[in-house]
Amino acid sequence: MLIRDIYAVPNVDPSWHVPQTYDGIFDFNFDTSRETLMHLYQKGKDMQWDALKRIDWDLELDPENPMQMPLEANPIYGTPLWDKLSKQDRIDLLTHGQAWNISQFLQGEQGALICASKIVTQVPTMDAKFYAATQTMDEARHIEAYEKLQKKFGVAYPMTAPLQELINDALKDSRWDITYLAMQIVIEGLALAAFATIRDVAQNPLAQQVNAYVMQDEARHVMFGRLSLRDYYPHLSDAERDEREEFLVDACYHMRDRFQGPEIYERLGLPVKECVEYGEQSETIKMFRTFLFQRIVPVVKDIGLWGPRIQKAYTDMGVIGFADMDVDALHDQDDSIAKDFDARQAYVESVISEGKGDPVAAE
Ligand SMILES: [Fe+2]
Ligand SMILES: [Fe+2]
Repeated sequence: MLIRDIYAVPNVDPSWHVPQTYDGIFDFNFDTSRETLMHLYQKGKDMQWDALKRIDWDLELDPENPMQMPLEANPIYGTPLWDKLSKQDRIDLLTHGQAWNISQFLQGEQGALICASKIVTQVPTMDAKFYAATQTMDEARHIEAYEKLQKKFGVAYPMTAPLQELINDALKDSRWDITYLAMQIVIEGLALAAFATIRDVAQNPLAQQVNAYVMQDEARHVMFGRLSLRDYYPHLSDAERDEREEFLVDACYHMRDRFQGPEIYERLGLPVKECVEYGEQSETIKMFRTFLFQRIVPVVKDIGLWGPRIQKAYTDMGVIGFADMDVDALHDQDDSIAKDFDARQAYVESVISEGKGDPVAAE
């Protein structure tokens, strides 16, 4: 089965072509002098994992609420429309809503794969090429994991227009740092918060595992963007930094305001406009949208794009309070939570194998 076979909407393009105009750069100095980047590269090599082996794919999703998410996470939960839905309609809405969510992760992972490989080609120094090469491999493994999870839903959605527009901007821009800004800072920063919601709120063990393990790598990817841009931006002129700030402000509003999933309601025959409006008014969705910026704002401040334009936008979005968040502590926590999942899995396996060796249990 291919993902193509389970798309919930008709006529999804089989491929997407993004024309490129940039130089592929060789580094004949073989410059690997930045210790922080080389340290991150070493971590990237040491912490590769195999989605086939690390995740227990015998685990299943729940037939009525696949990732066992709280009902409040659905944008129309608690509205008069929700009250009118039959039990089966609610199951369909939960299944399609969650499948749409995981589909955006899957589609975004392919975006990350292509962006990381663009960075390998285009970034001028060898240390950054080294790290981006490990990220490229990470993203391939993430696609593998989310693709397997997606198939358990039996339904998938194409990349939404806002995500596609931002990835397009990241890829077609000939300046290498714009790719970092769009992918490592905005998209991966948002993804970390979105993955964390499922890891911490979903009750389904398979959904928890996949997101916890992917997060362990994503935290490193955001760090890569942060280290690379923190070195680079002080060398730019004020006018050049202004352009980056403008790009960032647009990208943040774009991702916050346009992620509504109207195609889900259309597919299920629900009133699209009404459902989107319910989503806009939902207190849970508003809180989630604010939380999405928890990992982005402190990183933007750290890379030195902290002019009045950015600060005004983040104040307007109600996310400026995240500016002094300790992202390193969050990343350490992501790492230890993933290791806890490993420990729990190892414990379950040891109990099962002891059970098999026990003649009473075997009867
Ligand atoms: Fe990824
Ligand atoms: Fe990533």
